[in-house]
Amino acid sequence: VTVHLVGAGPGDPGLITVRGLDLLRQADAVVYDELAAPELLDEVPADALQISRAGMRQPQIDELLVSLGRTFETVVRLKGGDPFLFGRGREEVDALAAAGVDYEVVPGVSALTAVPAAAGIPLTHRGLSAQVTVITARSAADDDLDFDSLAAAAGTLVIFMGVARLGELVEALVAAGKDPATPAAVVSSGTTDRELTVAGRLDEIGELAAGLPSPALTVIGPTAAFAATVTEPIYAAVTTRPS
Ligand SMILES: C[S@@+](CC[C@H](N)C(=O)[O-])C[C@H]1O[C@@H](n2cnc3c(N)ncnc32)[C@H](O)[C@@H]1O
Repeated sequence: VTVHLVGAGPGDPGLITVRGLDLLRQADAVVYDELAAPELLDEVPADALQISRAGMRQPQIDELLVSLGRTFETVVRLKGGDPFLFGRGREEVDALAAAGVDYEVVPGVSALTAVPAAAGIPLTHRGLSAQVTVITARSAADDDLDFDSLAAAAGTLVIFMGVARLGELVEALVAAGKDPATPAAVVSSGTTDRELTVAGRLDEIGELAAGLPSPALTVIGPTAAFAATVTEPIYAAVTTRPS
């Protein structure tokens, strides 16, 4: 009996790993995140239990996984992107380990790299960005964000989960000394046919991105200027660069 924490990839169902897909096809029970591509559930055997985690709090999910792990042979916990990147994967693993239930982590293609890449943004383009800083803008640790060091950091800043608070974050970055003319881009529903990218200067990105649907990822730094330069996007329905 094993509970497999499987990374579903960033949105396109084709971006799950081979191992992840194999496990889905053998699953007795699947607990899935909203962010996982719905098409992946078509791969699950018809008689398997399918449970959405929507509306559940983390302790409930942990308990559910433990109880399913004690009941079924193959349980898949399908998580958006990679299970361990802003995914609370370790919390679920700890709960399983504490209950003596075997687990496995199957890494996934994270939005961190996949979403910018699909939108034409090379996070570490040689000569432009030798370091990447990754933050989330909606977490218990929010107040711990150190805007002075974020503003001073070279390279590329990637912000998860921040569109609603993007204007506020940008103001704090600029107040801490970040150049307001720094290129910035926001990609919504990356790697899906709903992908939408807006790009512009840092000091206008909050306004440009207002109203973009979730999920969305923000990229700030010289490499963000590559957004909207994908001449033949494989996903994007629309890619815009407002002036
Ligand atoms: C709870 S985090 C999960 C991240 C996930 N574990 C990963 O590795 O991609 C959810 C956030 O990831 C980002 N995200 C996930 N999928 C995305 C997509 N297809 N397009 C844009 N952003 C995405 C958004 O910032 C979203 O709010």
